[in-house]
Amino acid sequence: MYPLSAGLYAPRNCWYVAARSAEVGRVPLERFILDEPVVFYRTEAGEAVALAGRCPHRGYPLGRGRIEGDAVVCGYHGLRFEADGHCSHIPSQETIPPGCRLKTYPLVEHWEWLWMWPGDPALADEALIPDNRTPTLTDPAWVKRSPLYWKVEGRYQLLNDNLLDLTHLTVLHADTIGGGDVAGTRERHEEGEDWMRSIRWIPNAVVTDWVRKSRGIVGPVDREIMLTFAAPGFHYGHDRYFPAGADHGNDRPSLDIHIFHAVTPATRTSCHYFASSAVDPVTFELSRKHPPDTGSAVKIFTEDVEAIGEIERLLGAAGDFEEVPLRADVHALRGRHMVQAMIRAELSSQGAIPDRSRPQHGDAH
Ligand SMILES: [Fe+2]
Repeated sequence: MYPLSAGLYAPRNCWYVAARSAEVGRVPLERFILDEPVVFYRTEAGEAVALAGRCPHRGYPLGRGRIEGDAVVCGYHGLRFEADGHCSHIPSQETIPPGCRLKTYPLVEHWEWLWMWPGDPALADEALIPDNRTPTLTDPAWVKRSPLYWKVEGRYQLLNDNLLDLTHLTVLHADTIGGGDVAGTRERHEEGEDWMRSIRWIPNAVVTDWVRKSRGIVGPVDREIMLTFAAPGFHYGHDRYFPAGADHGNDRPSLDIHIFHAVTPATRTSCHYFASSAVDPVTFELSRKHPPDTGSAVKIFTEDVEAIGEIERLLGAAGDFEEVPLRADVHALRGRHMVQAMIRAELSSQGAIPDRSRPQHGDAH
């Protein structure tokens, strides 16, 4: 489906961020992940679990049930399911039918996120969690900011596209992080087997009032923006501000903000967006003197969330369309290609043949 080729939705055999740790407790949380209802809760020992979110008896949402001990109890007819998915009690009968059980999903708590594996549980290897490549996410020397969350009313690849094409900073975020000619600066592209990176070096950038006030940077500055995409839904990078004329290979930046975005398909036309950042201790001291304006930081994300909602609104009302590709799309098209390659590899390993009859939006040109 747009912006991927027809018949392709999302890879399943990979880790996706499903929830922030703080969201999951002793009250069931329902969240759609890859078009399936999932219920999350914690056992008495505090371990987070993810089970199919629909009671196999009458299809009532288990997110509207209650937690008893380590089990979730359906709020309709009282069926009780343990953390391993088996049904341990049915109020109206003594025997448990063989099909009366819930699918369980591998779930790993890492940093302040819960990572879920929607695909074949036998393939769920914790070493594949992509933030193993981003030490500052787990390095105690770095000061992390609380993870944020948005439900986005738009398909996940639109959000990946957004993060893979930062020329939108100059327009959509002109008042906040749009300082310097981001749109007019060519990016350097690097890639590996399942990741790709864009790097922009913007010399002598004029910073916005928002950066001046919230980050204590007067400018002009030399700005380096890097974002790495670990397919299919994790983006990490940095936004660095150097004194103008600095040797960016050797000098320390005046401000070094590491950013993390996780994108998870919810339904076919919506997704989950998790974001956070980390700063080094020097930057943290600086930011204490100039406390970040949390309201306008949230505004940046809200602008993206609303933009994607608007694109989805037109897709729903007017259907797919043929894009006019621009030079700036090279990176986003590679990202789509990477996600599609993952989906196709899974489909072919299952013997399914994806529909290739429609234009290959995300394929490399
Ligand atoms: Fe944005």
